[in-house]
Amino acid sequence: MKLTMQERSLPYDLVVVGAGPHGLIAAHTWLELFPESRVVILESEQDVGGTWGKGRIYPGMMTQSPVGKIEFSVYPMPPPEPTYLNLMAGSHVSAYLEAFSQHKAWAGKTLRDRVEFGFNVDRVTWTELDASRLYTIHDSTGESVTCRKLMVATGLTNVPHLPTFRMEKGHEFIPPVIHSKHLAKNSELLLSSAIQKVVVLGGAKSAFDTVQMLINGGKNVTWIIWEDGSGPACMGDPKPPPIFGLKNSSEVVSTRFISKLSPSIFEPVDNWARFWHQSKLGIALSAFFWKMITIKWWTAAGYDKDERLLPLKPSRPVYYVHTIGIANSADLWETVAKAKIIRGRIDVLSRKDVILSDGQEITCDALVACTGWDTRSSIFSREQSAKLGLPTDLSEESISDRQHWESLIGEADKEVLSRFPRLEAQPVFPGGRERTGSAKLYRSMVPTNPEFNDGSIVFLGHFISRDAMTLAEIQALWAVAYMNGKLQEKTQKEMEEEVALVIAWRRRRYLGDGHTYLFDGHEYSSQLLRDLDINDLRKGGGWRELFSPYDAHDYRGLIEEWKAL
Ligand SMILES: Cc1cc2nc3c(=O)[nH]c(=O)nc-3n(C[C@H](O)[C@H](O)[C@H](O)COP(=O)(O)OP(=O)(O)OC[C@H]3O[C@@H](n4cnc5c(N)ncnc54)[C@H](O)[C@@H]3O)c2cc1C
Ligand SMILES: NC(=O)c1ccc[n+]([C@@H]2O[C@H](COP(=O)([O-])OP(=O)(O)OC[C@H]3O[C@@H](n4cnc5c(N)ncnc54)[C@H](OP(=O)(O)O)[C@@H]3O)[C@@H](O)[C@H]2O)c1
Repeated sequence: MKLTMQERSLPYDLVVVGAGPHGLIAAHTWLELFPESRVVILESEQDVGGTWGKGRIYPGMMTQSPVGKIEFSVYPMPPPEPTYLNLMAGSHVSAYLEAFSQHKAWAGKTLRDRVEFGFNVDRVTWTELDASRLYTIHDSTGESVTCRKLMVATGLTNVPHLPTFRMEKGHEFIPPVIHSKHLAKNSELLLSSAIQKVVVLGGAKSAFDTVQMLINGGKNVTWIIWEDGSGPACMGDPKPPPIFGLKNSSEVVSTRFISKLSPSIFEPVDNWARFWHQSKLGIALSAFFWKMITIKWWTAAGYDKDERLLPLKPSRPVYYVHTIGIANSADLWETVAKAKIIRGRIDVLSRKDVILSDGQEITCDALVACTGWDTRSSIFSREQSAKLGLPTDLSEESISDRQHWESLIGEADKEVLSRFPRLEAQPVFPGGRERTGSAKLYRSMVPTNPEFNDGSIVFLGHFISRDAMTLAEIQALWAVAYMNGKLQEKTQKEMEEEVALVIAWRRRRYLGDGHTYLFDGHEYSSQLLRDLDINDLRKGGGWRELFSPYDAHDYRGLIEEWKAL
């Protein structure tokens, strides 16, 4: 949709930036409640879907979430082609989101009709008008729109983090250097006969997928994982234990019983939490459970059986994972074992050679950097980000801000340890990773600064968890309720203490700042539902509540339930 001059000149009731899963479901939820509202979605690309947009699906891309866990409850996904352990091709999610964006119209317009494609937001400014704020959202060509309410859903995996490589003077590096964000766009080139030898850099899920794609394409791959970082991602085995007819191990982790075994800061301190995380017996039982998971995942990978895989063995047990992936194809391990895997550091690039600090030289035709993402906002300035509680470069944080937050986090850490004494015995922090600090958003969405917690702005998707779409749907309802003044108000102090508690806990549970709550999606969404006064126990009680796996369909009817309150 291209906006007309007249449309541009009037402020929108709501602007959503980003047409990925979070942006789409947020606009949907808003329109379900306010169908006559003027809503526009601004998207820099030409597709909806974000990570799952057509242009980002590379050969062999599979989901990590199984059927039932990567869809919205408001729009059931048609069954995919049967694949490995109920996982599905990325293209299926892509088609689903495309269909979702067109399945319903409000005031004659679908979500897709409301997306302005190719609107690359590069700046947001604001003025105070009639006792409320008017945001102006600018794109890189000088176009702009204004609004009273702004939802930012730009995702955490959109701005590539590409290291600056040292180049040998006078010997420029010839091969293309491609970030994993652009894997799909470059897959034809990478799989062509012009490319035979490829160096892949990075140790997490994007690197696994890239190596698999290249090996399956018959390429000679050298895979470099830097030795002083957090090491290779822990890869979960999706094969479930042979009980209750489970189809994927994600179903086990999504039962409330199992999720209670993870020390989650989002859980109320009730008798369950006290038993599992404060009593000697509970701690020993939950430690045993996590040990079993580590043994199961590591045995499935076969690190100790095949010495080619040894460099991929995680440095820490699953309980303390920092980055996780799911081994989402049956032949993953035998495929990646065909790469030459090196734990080392790139020193310099020269002509066609990647030279490591120990002197090894690797000649290649392409270098694919699967080196992660810059989580700093590309649309707010550093000063704006600091005010809004968005991640900033650690070196750029003001001393007073840092002191203020570190003092709150220090206090919160005592609370974390009293709730979860086991987190006291913490492995060493992995080095080399923290480029930016954590977001400081209340409930991972709202600035704590009183200037901005007026319901005019929220940030969606500021977390890395399993099965993100259900969380996106629940965040969306929470955000709409919050923006319309329907949630209990909190003081700045209350919000800051809550934010500090989550950061202190994350530092111990997932070894660092960042956005990770890998095993805690369930508890986080329950917390949001409790804020909304919606029953978070959705299995009708009894044993089903504890042992039956949660799926998207368990959250069907949330909007109606909330409307009826
Ligand atoms: C390769 C890959 C596979 C994944 N697999 C899974 C999985 O199996 N299961 C799971 O639960 N999660 C998975 N994830 C996590 C994934 O991030 C979420 O599934 C989900 O896509 C997050 O949705 P989002 O809307 O927050 O972000 P995104 O999907 O990234 O969407 C953000 C949108 O904002 C747009 N945007 C960004 N900046 C601007 C700007 N300045 N102006 C305008 N538009 C902008 C982007 O173009 C994009 O369309 C995966 C992530 C990656 C990278
Ligand atoms: N198919 C799928 O479902 C799929 C595919 C891809 C990604 N994902 C998801 O997307 C998210 C992001 O994953 P990701 O792999 O793209 O990013 P990531 O988890 O941030 O991993 C980035 C990797 O690059 C390394 N790195 C960073 N800077 C480096 C440098 N200068 N030199 C060498 N290595 C460097 C990191 O090491 P350190 O950790 O030491 O910093 C890490 O190993 C995850 O949630 C993942 O599960 C899913």
